[in-house]
Amino acid sequence: METSQKLQIQCTVNGRDETLHAYPMERLLDVLREELRLTGTKEGCGEGECGACSVFINDRLVNSCLVPAAQAAGATIKTIEGVASEAQLHAVQQAFIDCGGAQCGICTPGMVLAAVNLLEQNPNPSEADIRTGLAGNLCRCTGYMKIFESVVRACQK
Ligand code: FES
Ligand code: FES
Repeated sequence: METSQKLQIQCTVNGRDETLHAYPMERLLDVLREELRLTGTKEGCGEGECGACSVFINDRLVNSCLVPAAQAAGATIKTIEGVASEAQLHAVQQAFIDCGGAQCGICTPGMVLAAVNLLEQNPNPSEADIRTGLAGNLCRCTGYMKIFESVVRACQK
């Protein structure tokens, strides 16, 4: 594939049809942030270890720092900006506010999406399930307890 020219990549992002303009191997993380200005998706490690850059692609949670933009062709993408409904925060987002689950905020979008993913797959997770569900996400600030409590709170709603 010719890699020196930008492609037009059709996809759906947060329910809207979008045409991205990106080099095939450009990171989806960068295209979402820079072209669509969806800056809720964060870069932590840039190498697939921290989960800060998580997005859903076709309902699968992935690290967008590891996804070439070309793979977005025809895909349905949801970022943290697409989690709330127009009128209301998602229960996980509200629980993070209520429980003080965010400090610097870099890990928060990825943590929220990991919790949303967990609850979609398992509406009544045990504490062990919650720990496993968040295991791919790193936080340098909170010591994890407030994040854990936030997800427990969201499960109770
Ligand atoms: S920035 Fe993608 S996993 Fe850390
Ligand atoms: S709140 Fe700062 S990295 Fe988690």
